[in-house]
Amino acid sequence: MKTKFYITTPLYYVNAAPHIGHSYTCIAADCLARYYRNLGLKVNFLTGTDEHGQKIQRAAEAQGLEPKVFSDKAVSVFKKLWETLDISYDDFIRTTESRHEKIVQKVLEILYKKGELYEHIYQGWYCTPCETFWSESQIQAGNCPDCKRPVEKIEEKNYFFKLSKYQDWLLDHIRSHQDFIKPASRREEVLKFLELNKLSDLCISRPKERLSWGIPLPFSPDHVTYVWFDALINYISAAGTFDKDDKYQSEWWPADLHLIGKDILRQHAVYWPIMLKALDIEPPKTIFAHGWWMINADKMSKSRGNVVSPIEMAEKFGVDVYRYFLLRDVPFGSDGNFSEEAIVKRFNGDLANDLGNLLYRTLTMIEKYFQGEIPDASINLKNKRAVEIEAKIKALDSGIKVNMGENDYNFSLALEPAWELINLANKYVEDTKPWNLAKENKTDELKEFILVLVNVIRKTSDAIYPFMPQTAESIKQQIGKNKISKGKPLFPRIE
Ligand code: MSP
Repeated sequence: MKTKFYITTPLYYVNAAPHIGHSYTCIAADCLARYYRNLGLKVNFLTGTDEHGQKIQRAAEAQGLEPKVFSDKAVSVFKKLWETLDISYDDFIRTTESRHEKIVQKVLEILYKKGELYEHIYQGWYCTPCETFWSESQIQAGNCPDCKRPVEKIEEKNYFFKLSKYQDWLLDHIRSHQDFIKPASRREEVLKFLELNKLSDLCISRPKERLSWGIPLPFSPDHVTYVWFDALINYISAAGTFDKDDKYQSEWWPADLHLIGKDILRQHAVYWPIMLKALDIEPPKTIFAHGWWMINADKMSKSRGNVVSPIEMAEKFGVDVYRYFLLRDVPFGSDGNFSEEAIVKRFNGDLANDLGNLLYRTLTMIEKYFQGEIPDASINLKNKRAVEIEAKIKALDSGIKVNMGENDYNFSLALEPAWELINLANKYVEDTKPWNLAKENKTDELKEFILVLVNVIRKTSDAIYPFMPQTAESIKQQIGKNKISKGKPLFPRIE
């Protein structure tokens, strides 16, 4: 049985303010980290920032700042956001930290010594925003095939990593490890790409005269490290080190889960495992690529100018409502359309009508019929409906586990059994007509009825904790002890 869970998010570029797309990966990772901590596993949840490269150098220049000073400011914005959204990361790594830079240089030295890197004059096209080289046949009317912005012609001496020699190994690895790339559609995508294309070696340096903001190559003072080669190494630099025989040592590695967006699948599922293979380090267990949040069918991004601020959404609807919406509204892995109307719909339905209503009406009945004391728990269930609901309560954990378990990570499905239970309980209230039980002095029946509702609420609050930590805490405060402490409705309807 596994005892540790090492989970990572991508390192976010510091050149732009974080938007809801960035917050999505962190919220999903936080939900899993909380879930696995609760199961008793040792969890290492890593996030951080990607601070080198041309994009950042240019953004800093535009503000008249040194790139490091510029990055410091951006990092505080990211950290503030994660605090607001209750992101319980264990470690935050910046690619400008010396613990990272040292390991990147060590990796370069090892690969250079092993003959995995070589010098070569490169001629071709370059897309600066994507920091990617393209061949003549790949560019489209002078533009980058990915971001559609103009490419620049360049000719320069660089260092290359022998990616191509590991193509067959990678294909074998993906074919023999069902869980290596998730979801299945992404696994197919990578397999198809590797089956149809011959990998080119990867250019891992940039001449200093063109770009100075990067980690210097230890064997060539005129070059800095390509930003992706630098950034991917964070997953091992944050969690371990190399010994004197160049063997990597870490209590956390291999990572259990790299969560990423689907746009950075190639780097994670092709470059990264090959880099590790060349270093004799085990690949991560799973790379899961989630979908994109779109605005009216367009990808949300700074360059398209349609970004939504996660802080604004959290202020407007509440942190937990925002978290719940992102995790509930689309299956993890698919794209989703983001709109405030969609949040309001989830809010009024799932949260106000279902969960909030169940809690509020239960607290009100405990006040009215039992003077605020939760009745004694030792009661024999006689009512058929009560027995049925208790059985569902017992099955809840395993229902969640199937979907939060190692191979799935389907947050939306994981939440479903909790809402089934809530709806069942609400229906039970409507059908039972407790005021009649009270009028007829059927105290035992009334007790039984209330106890079932209390159990449903307590159990659901445990279940939703990884998704909505503040809500779970607030429910616990209101109904966690013998004497209730009724507050205002958790989710007053939005008209
Ligand atoms: N710095 C690289 C990652 C290096 S990891 C070693 C990077 N940074 S990023 O800031 O551009 O993007 C970070 C993550 O945000 C990516 O996983 C990306 O997919 C995700 N998102 C960016 N826009 C998004 C949406 N509109 N929707 C969902 N996620 C998207 O890439």
